[in-house]
Amino acid sequence: MLVTRLIERKRDGGRLEPSEWSALIRSYVAGDVPDYQMAAMLMAVYVHGLDRTETAALTDAMRRNGAQLSLGHLAAARVDKHSTGGVGDKTSLILAPLVSSLGVAVPMMSGRGLGHTGGTLDKLESIPGMRTDITLADARAQLERIGCVMMGQSAEVVPADRGMYALRNATATCESVPLIASSIMSKKLAEDLTGLVLDIKRGSGSLVPDLDEALELAGTMVWLGESRGCTVVALLTAMDRPLGRAVGNALEMEEAIHALQGDGPPDLMTVTFALGAEMLQLGGVAADGDDARRRMERAIASGQAARRLQEVIEAQGGNPGVVDDPAVLPQAGACELFEAPRRGFVARVDPRPIGRALIALGGGRERPDDPIDPGVGFVITAKPGDWVERGEPIATIFARDDAGIEVGRAALRTAIGIADEADHPLPLVSHRVTIDGVTRTA
Ligand code: URA
Repeated sequence: MLVTRLIERKRDGGRLEPSEWSALIRSYVAGDVPDYQMAAMLMAVYVHGLDRTETAALTDAMRRNGAQLSLGHLAAARVDKHSTGGVGDKTSLILAPLVSSLGVAVPMMSGRGLGHTGGTLDKLESIPGMRTDITLADARAQLERIGCVMMGQSAEVVPADRGMYALRNATATCESVPLIASSIMSKKLAEDLTGLVLDIKRGSGSLVPDLDEALELAGTMVWLGESRGCTVVALLTAMDRPLGRAVGNALEMEEAIHALQGDGPPDLMTVTFALGAEMLQLGGVAADGDDARRRMERAIASGQAARRLQEVIEAQGGNPGVVDDPAVLPQAGACELFEAPRRGFVARVDPRPIGRALIALGGGRERPDDPIDPGVGFVITAKPGDWVERGEPIATIFARDDAGIEVGRAALRTAIGIADEADHPLPLVSHRVTIDGVTRTA
């Protein structure tokens, strides 16, 4: 196979055959296609897109060039949830233990920060000692024992996504429907799931801000899953402002722990419960949405959901004491309140500059091997539509030092707009997409 010919064809708007995608990914995983050629191919795909046949061929090639979980022996249904990426989106950290504590097995395979969006693995690894590089054998054993594992793509599982994900992050090729669909679905299909719930973010902070594009992404992923034997439900949710209050790895881990203890911010809990209700119904544990919600509220109130998180952390080498005392999480060296510069309505809290500032503070990566500073970030209490007085604290900046505080201040000045009138934010959950079509939920 001459890789330059394939790149050339894609660069010029042509198509690759399934056998060519398969050969390309096999050679990439074997180390015969260097990163610079794969990066060129990713840019060509970003520019010209892929049709559904090509997206499916790429997804299948990524999934097959690696080991896969085999979980058919488990008595429980196997259901996972995955988001297309956002700022402050920590629902996975809450849903995996919550749903698994209610009797559905959750083999969750997540990613790291991508572009300006955060990653579940980076948030989990803010817990001292916590490992996410779990082998398939260990993942199986952990699922049998406690019904939940939270792991990443590895040299063993979907190795192609591990490399391509890091390249996309470094080459501004994250925002592509076929690349997002193949990245997510290759991982999900390797998990041997019976059901999958997708959180498709839309709005200015999403990798696919536009509604039509978000619906196309949802439709593509639902079709990919269903045509490969996995029932998929996708919800479109708002990413025109950060979800919850915390943005930053340890800060989001702490907010997720509070949510599992019954003290989560209302917007975060609305999205979490909507996704969890779909997971529980797909898992055959809840009869309908109301039943699912009652079960989740009970699991939180009784402490059973938080205990499950403790078990997962302990099984993966982390300090389970973090659930009772989140102060064991890494702390920032400097922090400062950010005050409203005028009185009025909070007109917008734009997630993109906040996500980018988190990277500049050291909480995300510019290059694949950049280390992460887990303690830095923001807690933003102001939400679009809130009335604030001049000088009222509306956020806190957490940074390594004074220079970082200045970076945080500048980002919040850009991101938070205060005006005489409030815009209407997007509905938190707006559409539900299944193989039967799209329904509006708001
Ligand atoms: N999550 C992933 O795993 N991949 C993407 O491309 C986006 C979000």
